[in-house]
Amino acid sequence: MNIVLGITGGIAAYKAPDLVRRLRERGGDVQIVMTASAEEFVTSTALQAVSGRPIRSNLWDKEAEAAMSHIELARWADIVLIAPATAEIMARIVSGGAPDLLTTICLATEAPIALAPAMNRVMWSNPATQANRRVLESRGTHILGPAVGSQACGETGAGRMLDPDTIAAAVFDIGTIQGEGLLDNRKVVITAGPTREAIDPVRYITNRSSGKMGYAIARAAAAQGADVVLISGPVDLPDPPGVEVRNVTTAQEMHDATHDCVKEADIFVAAAAVADYRPKDLKEQKIKKNDESMTLDLVRCPDILASVAALDAGPFTVGFAAETEKVDEYARSKLENKALDMIIANRVGNDCGFDRDDNAVNVLWSEGEKRYPQAQKSKLARDLVELIAERYYAARGTDTQPRLSVISTTD
Ligand SMILES: Cc1cc2nc3c(=O)[nH]c(=O)nc-3n(C[C@H](O)[C@H](O)[C@H](O)COP(=O)(O)O)c2cc1C
Repeated sequence: MNIVLGITGGIAAYKAPDLVRRLRERGGDVQIVMTASAEEFVTSTALQAVSGRPIRSNLWDKEAEAAMSHIELARWADIVLIAPATAEIMARIVSGGAPDLLTTICLATEAPIALAPAMNRVMWSNPATQANRRVLESRGTHILGPAVGSQACGETGAGRMLDPDTIAAAVFDIGTIQGEGLLDNRKVVITAGPTREAIDPVRYITNRSSGKMGYAIARAAAAQGADVVLISGPVDLPDPPGVEVRNVTTAQEMHDATHDCVKEADIFVAAAAVADYRPKDLKEQKIKKNDESMTLDLVRCPDILASVAALDAGPFTVGFAAETEKVDEYARSKLENKALDMIIANRVGNDCGFDRDDNAVNVLWSEGEKRYPQAQKSKLARDLVELIAERYYAARGTDTQPRLSVISTTD
C-alpha cells in the first residue's frame, strides 16, 4: 500500500519513526511529508533513514517537484495518513486552503484521508476543534482516536495520539479491505468489548475482553457493504470507519441499545463479553475495608444473546463462546440451548483469546462446523464475515446474495 504519511508539529511527532516502522512491517511503502513545524520536533534525517525515501516538505522544492510533483504524489497515495495531526492542520484542511505541500496533497487526492489527532486535552475539546472534527467526519475523513491518558503537558484527558501499532492496523483496514459487496443492503448489529458492573463509585466488575474481535468483524462487515451498528463496551480502540458506534458501559445498557436497533437487523453478532452477574446493590459511597472478609451479593444480568435469538422473525443470530475448557462441547450446547444460528467458539486463557491481535476459532452451526487456525483478528474477521454471509443466505433460502438494485435516497 502506498502511504503518504503527513507529520505535523505536535509533540507526538517523536513517535513518527516508530509509526513508519509499523507501517513498513505491514507492507506499506511510506512517503513522508512534513510540515515546517514538524521539523522542530523530529529530524528529517531520522525519518529518511526509517522510511527509505527522501522526505518531502516544501511545496516550492523544484528538484523534488520535478521527480514527483505534488499532484503525482496525491495520485500515488492509496491513503493519506496524518499522524500526529495538530489542531492547526485540522483547521487548514477544513478551510479547503492549500498553503503548503501537505494540505495541497489532501485537496488533490482521491485516496481516503485518515487523521490521528494529538494535542492538549483543552485544545481537543475546544468547540472550534470539535466543529472541525465533525466537518471532517461528515466529509468521510477517518479520525483515529485520540486516546485518553496522561499527556506531555502534564495533564490527563483525551488528546493523546493512538499508539503507532493501532494506527497502522487501522490504516491497513481502511486501505486494503474492499469486499465484494456480500452484505450490500444488509443491516448488521454487532456487540463488542466488555461491560462494567459498578460495585461502588470507584470499583467495578469487568473482564479481559479488548473488543478487538468485535471491532474487526464490524470493519469487515462494513467493507462487505453492510450498514453496521456497533454497540461497544468500554474499550481503547478507534471507531471503525463507516460504522455507527454506540458506546455503553453496563450489560443492561448494552441490552437496551441492542434491542433499540436489532429488530430491523438482518444479522446480529454478539462478540461482546457481557457480564453474567452484577452487584445487587450499587453502594452510594466507597466501601471501607472494615472486616477481614466481605461478601458481594450478585444478581443475573440480562442475557442479550438469548433475548435476540428468541425474537419472532429476529435476525440471523451469531454468538461467541469463550471457554477455558471443553470448548466445542460447551459451544454446541450454547448453540442449541439458546437456539442460535451459529456460534464462534474459542479457547481463552493467559496465552490466547483475550486482548491479543490473533486468535483461532471453531465455528459451529446445526448441520456443520468449520475450523480457522491462528490468524490475525483482521484476517479472521474477513473470513468469518464471508462464512456468516454464506450461512445467512443459506438459512434464508438463497445460496448466493440476491443482487438487489436499490436506488439510494441519501447522498
Ligand atoms: C512545544 C510545542 C508543542 C506543541 N504541541 C502541539 C500538539 O501536540 N498538538 C497541536 O495541535 N499543536 C501543538 N503545538 C502547536 C503547533 O506546533 C502549531 O499550531 C503549529 O502551527 C502547527 O503547524 P502544522 O500543523 O503545520 O504542523 C505545539 C507547539 C509547541 C511550541
